[in-house]
Amino acid sequence: MGKKMANIGIITSGGDCGGLNAVVRGAAKTAMSRGIGTYIIPNGYAGLYNLVDFQHLVLLDEERTDHVNSSFAGSDAGHSRVKISKIADPDKYDRILMGLRKFNISGLLISGGDDTGSVVVDLAEHGIPCVHAPKTMDLDLQTYSVGGDSAINKIANIVDDLKTTGTTHNRIMVIEVFGRYAGHTAFRGGIAADADCILIPEIPVDFDAVYAHLKHYYIRRILNSDVHAGTYVIVVAEGVKGGDGNLFSDGGSGKDSFGHVHLGGAGRYVRDRLEAMMKDDPEIKQFMKASGMYVPGVFEIPEIREIVPSHIVRSGSTSAYDVNFGKEIGASAVILLDEGISGVTVVKVHNGAIRYMPTVEAIKQRFVSVDDIDFYEQMDVCFGRRRETYEAKMEEQQGPVERHV
Ligand code: F6P
Repeated sequence: MGKKMANIGIITSGGDCGGLNAVVRGAAKTAMSRGIGTYIIPNGYAGLYNLVDFQHLVLLDEERTDHVNSSFAGSDAGHSRVKISKIADPDKYDRILMGLRKFNISGLLISGGDDTGSVVVDLAEHGIPCVHAPKTMDLDLQTYSVGGDSAINKIANIVDDLKTTGTTHNRIMVIEVFGRYAGHTAFRGGIAADADCILIPEIPVDFDAVYAHLKHYYIRRILNSDVHAGTYVIVVAEGVKGGDGNLFSDGGSGKDSFGHVHLGGAGRYVRDRLEAMMKDDPEIKQFMKASGMYVPGVFEIPEIREIVPSHIVRSGSTSAYDVNFGKEIGASAVILLDEGISGVTVVKVHNGAIRYMPTVEAIKQRFVSVDDIDFYEQMDVCFGRRRETYEAKMEEQQGPVERHV
């Protein structure tokens, strides 16, 4: 057993999501069993920078750890979006080292996504031992990241729930969810809820393809329903683009310290474009009459509504899978630090062994595989393009199967 650490500081950073408290709890419990103290460094890298000015830090002893509820999303440790290298203070790294010395902290467990991970690399290069516990609801790291499964489950439930109001009013529902550069959670959440169409940043949207798919399903559902009821559901990732490479988002409000613009408006843009297409389409008027919905001057085309669940997707409760994974990576990070390993990201625990990789590799952005899109297109889910022909690919399993859990 290693004995390199006196105390470990826990930092959670970036966008909050499910599983972070499980990381904290897993880390605290493992540290206790190894005789290591764990302290919460509050509010992400902001707290790390200001540590030297703190009078007191919360020690995660047995009693305090009892109050860390693994299934609550968000983080008891608090978050901020602060990039250390961007801080104007030229003595920032010395200031951080002074803070760590003040509390006799010899290593950091840092949970976050790619931006947070880039700071892990930076801190490790400045001689501060740190291990990265991967977290992001966006699922765009090379490793699985805690929070992804919880977000997918939330999106699936929200999209599924919205079908009841959609069907009651015969509305087309456009649901905009987070996903700035990668559409993993829109994709998987949408599939889980039987969404008709899923628009993600990886596929530039062809509105003619979306409109043709929409008309086919929406009209068929309503005309064939004994009560003329139906809906059509589109899930849109906030970072979706057109063929010209321009974002549908209206640019939002300002940038964070990592240079990301706050996005917003992609769902509204999709709604406006589809609404304009319906207004110009004489077949829509015929459909409205055939379904008994047409009311001149009042109800001439179907309604399209956009809904933005926003932070609800990151909030509330954590999925059971993320609690398990969070505890494993929190505990693993403590063990790696205690074994003198730094600048790495925990990948998973497999058959009791901790797998890890260099953080610099782990934070390389991972996008939705276009082969997976092809696969789902043959089930006639629309991904905002003309359906590609799926060429069946098959591989025989070699060696033992790696189970999910
Ligand atoms: O970092 C994950 C994420 O959920 C992105 O998908 C989204 O664009 C962003 O966070 C929103 O962050 P904030 O809570 O800072 O507005």
